[in-house]
Amino acid sequence: MRVLLTGGTGYIGSHTAAALAARGHHIVLLDNFSNSERDVPARLQALTGQSFPLIEADIRDTETLTRALRDHEIDAVIHFAALKAVGESEADPLLYYEMNILGTIRLLQAMQAANVAHIVFSSSATVYGQPDSSPILEDFPTRVENIYGRTKLVMEDLIRDLARTNKLSGAANLRYFNPVGAHPSALIGETPRGVPNNLMPYLTQVATGERPHLNIFGNDYNTPDGTGVRDYIHVMDLAEAHALALEHIFANNVSITVNLGTGEGTSVLQLVRAFARATGREIKTLIAPRRPGDVASYYANPALAEKLFGWKAKLSVLDMCRDSWRWQAKRAGINDVQV
Ligand SMILES: NC(=O)c1ccc[n+]([C@@H]2O[C@H](COP(=O)([O-])OP(=O)(O)OC[C@H]3O[C@@H](n4cnc5c(N)ncnc54)[C@H](O)[C@@H]3O)[C@@H](O)[C@H]2O)c1
Repeated sequence: MRVLLTGGTGYIGSHTAAALAARGHHIVLLDNFSNSERDVPARLQALTGQSFPLIEADIRDTETLTRALRDHEIDAVIHFAALKAVGESEADPLLYYEMNILGTIRLLQAMQAANVAHIVFSSSATVYGQPDSSPILEDFPTRVENIYGRTKLVMEDLIRDLARTNKLSGAANLRYFNPVGAHPSALIGETPRGVPNNLMPYLTQVATGERPHLNIFGNDYNTPDGTGVRDYIHVMDLAEAHALALEHIFANNVSITVNLGTGEGTSVLQLVRAFARATGREIKTLIAPRRPGDVASYYANPALAEKLFGWKAKLSVLDMCRDSWRWQAKRAGINDVQV
């Protein structure tokens, strides 16, 4: 298949590009580099031995998108490009509506103009808001708790509507839980700008000495050790899921909405201990007050993905820690990484 990846030089996009290339697909990357580095296509080439054509463009530019889809004879799109910081979305809602919602409408218009009728979309478990219980199934009610979550839900709805009205032949809304880790080669990984919003990049930056300690927000939750429980998923497993989901919707012309998690909850303290075990690095932690809006426990029931397209996460929390560390240590210039 010839597949265009919007946001293809970003964290999850770059790993998915490598996974698709390994399965024999031809990949075109499209990105505006607002949150990624320009050498990612070269790194992907070093990793896979294949070249990755790059279009530097914004997803709101329908004309350029349409031309790219036609010129590269694209069969399907995987849509990663979006803004993704919850705090920023609350500070500037219109920016998020424009980039995420309008950007997706522009992309869908370009796809329609170029007769591209299959899309895989990066959604998020954030659409469940504060669920009543875990494990979370796809038919749990969706709840909007912040502007970022609203944009993800609207983007899902746009795609479902177009599939229902036969403007799209196949669509997959993939609801990621907590992606972490990096390619084991340490050639690609996550490159957060400024202070990381997510636990694992923060933790690895404490391990390199870039940050003094890790704040644990709340240790009095109703969980086995009192700290918040999440469903961490290795980005390599996530990348594989995109390839399988894409092949499934392309072969069967179906529209699906699917959780992507391991199905296992890990607490903050368990993750910190696993990190020490995987890397030999102890992390200094401080207990801080709970953050508003945080949920005690949150993990997926991932059975539908296995049923529909035979996907199941394979990598463990230790793998996630080891690969995150290898990547971050290399970036920080630490050479004695023993993992
Ligand atoms: N990382 C997570 O924890 C997580 C969890 C759930 C869902 N998601 C979703 O997965 C997708 C990918 O996330 P990621 O972690 O790889 O983020 P990322 O920021 O690393 O990747 C997004 C890429 O899109 C590009 N981009 C952003 N706006 C663009 C625009 N208007 N035009 C063209 N390119 C644009 C950025 O430069 C970046 O390369 C996002 O849609 C995100 O909302 C991420």
